[in-house]
Amino acid sequence: MLTNRNSIARAASAGGATKSNKAASTPATGSTIELTNVSKAYGEEWLSDQILDNLSLSIAPGEMTVIVGPSGCGKSTLVNLLAGFEEPDSGKITIDGEEITGPGKDRMVVFQETALIPWQTTFENVVFGPKLRGDMKTADLEKEAKKLLVKVGLGEFMSKFPLQLSGGMQRRAELARALINEPKVMIMDEPFRGLDAMSRSLMQEFFLQLFEENRRTNVFVTSEIDEAIFLADNLIVLTNKPTKVEKIIDIKLPRPRNYSMLTSAEAFEYKRETMAILHEEAMKSFANTSKGVA
Ligand SMILES: Nc1ncnc2c1ncn2[C@@H]1O[C@H](COP(=O)(O)OP(=O)(O)O)[C@@H](O)[C@H]1O
Ligand SMILES: [Mg+2]
Repeated sequence: MLTNRNSIARAASAGGATKSNKAASTPATGSTIELTNVSKAYGEEWLSDQILDNLSLSIAPGEMTVIVGPSGCGKSTLVNLLAGFEEPDSGKITIDGEEITGPGKDRMVVFQETALIPWQTTFENVVFGPKLRGDMKTADLEKEAKKLLVKVGLGEFMSKFPLQLSGGMQRRAELARALINEPKVMIMDEPFRGLDAMSRSLMQEFFLQLFEENRRTNVFVTSEIDEAIFLADNLIVLTNKPTKVEKIIDIKLPRPRNYSMLTSAEAFEYKRETMAILHEEAMKSFANTSKGVA
């Protein structure tokens, strides 16, 4: 099987309109992100742990780019770099040609841990960021927040506190809180991890519907292969650290998607291919960590 190890594997300008799996009626919005030879290590020089190693990648506008990789390979590190919370040691990350130098409201991040403020209602949580920045008139902001909360199915729960919401509802509140900023890029780091199986698949369907309506640039990190295939336009499979891109799989399942597509022969082949790579990486990692063990 051919691999795209450490290569800039996709022309960012590919966009959406010409590809067969795109919903023709929804034009791509959002930004292009380019990572060029990005390296990142943690720790002092004498005991440094190389996490990302000359990683290059293009993230196309309006597409759902899903990243999978072995646990600890640096997926969250990559998310932190894209969000601008961390800087690469070398290499460059640009968004629409501008180098990322820090966090910005053009990129919203949703993590697996809930970041909702526990003593604020769902509604207050959603308006909190824009209110603090003062970049929207209060009346407009409140109207927009209500609209978004209805859209994510929380119309009846606006005045509830986060702890009064189910896990799935909390994730939907987080989505509303990110979307109120109208980001060009949504970055999701295992956002549905920890939900029970039923809530998780409902969230995936719900999230996909939101994406297919808006077609923002999305970067979605997951360790769940079915979730990855169900959501992705492009599936980026990473190696163990020092981490590179092992393979980019173009997921050609049609949109709008539904769960039955995961039982197709095509989906099965994507799954087999992804699992084979991840299994090989896990075996390598096991071989390394078991060295010296009697
Ligand atoms: N702030 C940090 N300081 C030191 N080491 C870190 C830091 N953040 C992550 N790491 C290390 O980097 C590696 C990759 O972590 P992470 O990006 O969280 O992986 P993943 O999200 O793929 O599971 C791990 O070995 C982790 O211990
Ligand atoms: Mg992580």
